[in-house]
Amino acid sequence: MQYEVVLPAAGSGKRMGAGQNKLFLYLLGKPILAHTLEVFERDDRCTGIWLAVKPEERAFIERMLVEYGITKVKGLPDGGAERQHSVHSCLKAMEQVSIVLVHDAARPFITHDIIAHLVESAHDYGAAIAGVRAKDTMKKVSNGIIEETVDRESLWMVQTPQAFRFELIVEAEDVAEKVGFLGTDEAMLMERLGHEVRIVESSYENVKITTQEDLVFGEAILHKRAL
Ligand code: C5P
Repeated sequence: MQYEVVLPAAGSGKRMGAGQNKLFLYLLGKPILAHTLEVFERDDRCTGIWLAVKPEERAFIERMLVEYGITKVKGLPDGGAERQHSVHSCLKAMEQVSIVLVHDAARPFITHDIIAHLVESAHDYGAAIAGVRAKDTMKKVSNGIIEETVDRESLWMVQTPQAFRFELIVEAEDVAEKVGFLGTDEAMLMERLGHEVRIVESSYENVKITTQEDLVFGEAILHKRAL
């Protein structure tokens, strides 16, 4: 089953503290963004890539596409002040498709298997997101004091990709924009409208490169995969 993917890539990466877009940092000799793009370039089911970019970084990214042989990019619209705005900007630029995936450009280790499960689930149920079970004991804390130990069985840490039937996510994003609601992920916008969102078990390797230590984890994952 085919899909197009939206990759928000217009963040500033403040928590990385690199003084530049963290997606331009290298993991084993290749920029993080190029690693992520290659996953979708090599997935036969992916028929189009939409990248939300900062206008001042567009030319640099276009050169990166050429350098790494990325041919599936259909558009590089301007990103926005928040991630959700960047995603919305891509959705507005797209033609109608059946299934759209939203995936953080900062998660380069997503696999074709997990993508396939998400696409199938979104096709069958409308919305599906990647997640992993919480591993640690979870506490609810208020003002530095534990209020309760939360039952871990029902807790998942969610990731991207988040996959949707196109018309459902467009509606959810449009409504959010109209009422000025800012969610932390796309699933949250769907939940607000009462849509069921399925969870697809993903991998702990599908980390979002956020802080300096994630670069070390990232290179370790690449080394392991090269064995
Ligand atoms: O900052 P964080 O890693 O959580 O951002 C997740 C993804 O969203 C990154 O790929 C980042 O480039 C993107 N983003 C964006 N526009 C923003 C903020 C973040 O495209 N305004």
